[in-house]
Amino acid sequence: MTVLDNEAVFGGGRPLRGRVRVPGDKSLSHRAVLFAALAKGASRLTHVANGEDVAATRRIVELLGARVREKRGELIVTGGGFEALREPEMVLDCANSGTSMRVIAGVLAGRPFLSVLNGDGSLRKRPMARVTTPLRLMGARIDGREQGRLAPLVIRGGALNGIDYELPVATAQAKSSLILAALQAEGASTIYSPAMSRDHTERMLIALGAPVRVEGLSVCVDPLASAWDGFEFAVPADPSSAAFFAVAATITPGSEVVLESVAINPTRIGFIEVLRRMGANITIVPTGELLGEPVGDITVRSATLTATRIEGDEIPSVIDEIPALAMAAGFADGVTEIRDAEELAVKESNRIGAIQQELIQLGLGCEAHRDGLTIRGGRPKPGATLKSHGDHRIAMAAAVAAHALDGPSAVRGWAVVGVSYPSFAADLERLAGPA
Ligand code: S3P
Repeated sequence: MTVLDNEAVFGGGRPLRGRVRVPGDKSLSHRAVLFAALAKGASRLTHVANGEDVAATRRIVELLGARVREKRGELIVTGGGFEALREPEMVLDCANSGTSMRVIAGVLAGRPFLSVLNGDGSLRKRPMARVTTPLRLMGARIDGREQGRLAPLVIRGGALNGIDYELPVATAQAKSSLILAALQAEGASTIYSPAMSRDHTERMLIALGAPVRVEGLSVCVDPLASAWDGFEFAVPADPSSAAFFAVAATITPGSEVVLESVAINPTRIGFIEVLRRMGANITIVPTGELLGEPVGDITVRSATLTATRIEGDEIPSVIDEIPALAMAAGFADGVTEIRDAEELAVKESNRIGAIQQELIQLGLGCEAHRDGLTIRGGRPKPGATLKSHGDHRIAMAAAVAAHALDGPSAVRGWAVVGVSYPSFAADLERLAGPA
């Protein structure tokens, strides 16, 4: 593997062997930093994700008045509850991070001041009505491009009323946004999801003592009487990053990799179920629970794969792992169908189109649909020039496919991996050992 400027070259199929602790989970890190900023007193956070997305959330809570210090790999965040947040002097830059923009919009909707949320070119294309519509119904004044469907978003928050709201899509970002607004509202709220999406906000807030209850697919929230206390949290490793090594170890013969201290929340590890269905050799050993979040070690040994179908309610539990799973499908025997995944088109890139292009570059048959992909697995070919499409997960998915092949393939636009996993190439190289 060589990384030069914005291009990385992978290949050779060296078996992956050893142990790796991938960076802290991105979803949990955003929430840990934000909930620490909303706590009364100091919180100590370790293993916080070191990518650019979580750095955006950190900068934003600082601009809102929380104090953040970094000490020997630890973040010490000092907050004073929702009431202590103050009007930011500057535009709040969410960079590439949909989670920062949507979840923080829910906090700001309840604050009696003006704030402006902006992001990069990719984020400014992503749908925001899923938060602006219900937050307006709760009483926040929000404006944005195209009647509030697109960022920048201008929020003048204030007195909110509780809401009973059915989300049109299963989205954890919008659900979390509404939970945080509901804690600041007058009266109780119920937020209903059409299918289960990741439930970190609910688990963590319940563990912190906030008035949040889960009833099936509904989350019931009462107004927060007083801020939760500062807390300690060692962020478990990110299953979405671990998924790239799970696929890499599966498709690279002779591999055996242990992924340490991974968040194994059932809403996040659908990719393990899918890979096992395809024939993968994966074991999970639970090691504990932190702030309501289960943690475990995952061992992956190489295996031959057969095609599968991924659809319906399984989709939210694999949504960020589909780029990696699509590469696994490219190495599997048979035709894999991915359906009901229209949300893929509005992620950091249009992942339906991006995955299709990259599988075709690898010499495979792939058709794109409005809601998914048909992938004809077989023998991918090295020698391609693959592209990240400005999307960290497409870059890493391309890299794991390229790694497993005999000859070299390039991944252009590599620098974008910094969004979630700056040291991905170095960790892959270490597991592969000397060339
Ligand atoms: C996230 C939720 C998911 C996921 C995203 C992170 C979160 O999006 O794709 O990468 O931290 O809440 P949805 O809002 O579509 O669930």
